[in-house]
Amino acid sequence: MRVCLTSIVISVFILLAAANDEFKEEIFLKPLPPTHLYSFFQFITLVNNENSFEHAHLAPRSLSEVISRFHVEELHLTLTEGQWRHHKWGYPVLDAAPGAELYAWFSEDVEDVDTQWRQLSATLSGLFCASLNFIDGFNTITPRMALWPSGAFKQNQNVTSQLRYASLPREIVCTENLTPWKKLLPCESIRGFSSLLNSRMIHNTNYHSIGVHFRRMCSNKECSQTHLEVKQTVSLVFDYKILKSVDWSLRKLFGQGLPGGCPLASSSQIYVDITSNDTQPFKLTPQPDKIITSQRGGSDTKLALYNIKPDGVMMNLAAKYGNTDKIIVPQPPPLHFNRYVLGYGKEFGGIVTEVTNNYRSPISIVLLENAPWWLPIQLSTLRINGEAESKLVLSQFFSPGRCRQKPYHLELLLRLPARSTTTITMDFEFVFLKWQEYPPDANHGFYIGSALISVNLPTARNYTSLPLTGSTYDSVVNASQPWYPAVFRTNGAMVSLPTPDFSMPYNVICLACTVVALAFGPLHNICTKELGLKPTAKKLTWKQRLLGIFKKKQD
Ligand SMILES: *[C@@H]1O[C@H](CO)[C@@H](O)[C@H](O)[C@H]1NC(C)=O
Ligand SMILES: *[C@@H]1O[C@H](CO)[C@@H](O)[C@H](O)[C@H]1NC(C)=O
Ligand SMILES: *[C@@H]1O[C@H](CO)[C@@H](O)[C@H](O)[C@H]1NC(C)=O
Ligand SMILES: *[C@@H]1O[C@H](CO)[C@@H](O)[C@H](O)[C@H]1NC(C)=O
Repeated sequence: MRVCLTSIVISVFILLAAANDEFKEEIFLKPLPPTHLYSFFQFITLVNNENSFEHAHLAPRSLSEVISRFHVEELHLTLTEGQWRHHKWGYPVLDAAPGAELYAWFSEDVEDVDTQWRQLSATLSGLFCASLNFIDGFNTITPRMALWPSGAFKQNQNVTSQLRYASLPREIVCTENLTPWKKLLPCESIRGFSSLLNSRMIHNTNYHSIGVHFRRMCSNKECSQTHLEVKQTVSLVFDYKILKSVDWSLRKLFGQGLPGGCPLASSSQIYVDITSNDTQPFKLTPQPDKIITSQRGGSDTKLALYNIKPDGVMMNLAAKYGNTDKIIVPQPPPLHFNRYVLGYGKEFGGIVTEVTNNYRSPISIVLLENAPWWLPIQLSTLRINGEAESKLVLSQFFSPGRCRQKPYHLELLLRLPARSTTTITMDFEFVFLKWQEYPPDANHGFYIGSALISVNLPTARNYTSLPLTGSTYDSVVNASQPWYPAVFRTNGAMVSLPTPDFSMPYNVICLACTVVALAFGPLHNICTKELGLKPTAKKLTWKQRLLGIFKKKQD
């Protein structure tokens, strides 16, 4: 009886602790006129336990064990295929670099951050079936200015020294990454919004990115208490050309309707950005539950809101456009950028990052350039708008790379004048790699990761964010703040390094094989055939000889 009572008490305690957990799911749909549609999924699990995931029943156990084991304070992992086109699509809710990108802050009590970081990336590599185990000292940097934690941190903690950042631009994202990602959700892909995410439709998009974000958040205004947040995100950009029509619906986008919300979720909501209805009108069926207008930074965003019940009733949200003859040319957002490689031949080259400020006042940005060790960039060749000394640079940090050990890392705090384009150029030399260091398809080229641009936008034009959902005390998304923090990634670039002629061994093998094949026959003959003596001809009479000649002729 006593045992039973104790276990009941314990389970009540566990239930009470677990009752504090919260899970929310959201879909955000935004038409990007004239040709694309953006959809963003976020699944947020809040663990209202100050320090650990113990007794948390909704948080993904495999991930939470990794986080506790390596003393991670904040973690961001994204796996992305395709390139977000900022000048055409505006800004995404969360930007991500092409390929795999991982950055994390470790807790203060971690002393050997580098070892911990390598172990963390190797563990996550197993968890997400991605090649994160290739992260090592030679492709890891510690950004000084570009990245700041989005969660709660102790006031006087040195956040820089506990941060590590790495990106793998070559990583290819596919189904085998999505499946373990879905397993982390409380409803997996059986119920709720995640049941829409089937890989057949996702990999049919122009851009897709899956992410896992973990951080610690303040529970009250003074931040004396904190809780943990795990956010799983998916960004997809659909092309109307692939959909074969401008009208879209959940069934068309994901191959099936929505079978209700996840029963474990405290809220399941769909937001549709209907701001573009002013330029390209469309009708939504069914009617939204509510229309929200959010005003920030001088621009209005109208959102249609749907509350989805976990009743298992199939729902299909559809948009039907009226007249679509009008040609819409989207205005570029306040800040946009481009990156490309200069030079010809196989000796010297240059890498150029162009940043355009369209806004009416100057904007300060932090630009982080990160070049692999096999692309030595020299600080002395840094030119801004063609000048070596520029007044635009307010502060800079450079850490030279070391062969096979450390990448090149440059950070610039720049003040971009109003309505201007700034070009940042650096020269590099091509190096020869060792022959085992070339990838199997060496002539394909080598990827250079994206540059990071960290900015506090002075305007909310083309800025995309969801209404406050995660927590009331989210320091990053505060609608009444006069600036909008964002970190963008430029497009990546590709260089073709001097590559040895890998076909030579093949040619040699072919030639050698031919020679052997040709020589084999005669040699075999000689070695295996028995040599016999011909019987010597008897002395013939002249008659027999004559007959012999005739016989030959008859033959
Ligand atoms: C933080 O750590 C970095 C790297 O270890 C160091 O360069 C920097 O001076 C530290 N900052 C402070 C405020 O202690
Ligand atoms: C778009 O605007 C039209 C009228 O201008 C209105 O009838 C329609 O309901 C609007 N669509 C949405 C999704 O609000
Ligand atoms: C950015 O926003 C402005 C006004 O809000 C709009 O005219 C423009 O088309 C948008 N640009 C993009 C690329 O979304
Ligand atoms: C949001 O920003 C405004 C203006 O800076 C500030 O007054 C307000 O306290 C902030 N809200 C939160 C919840 O931090």
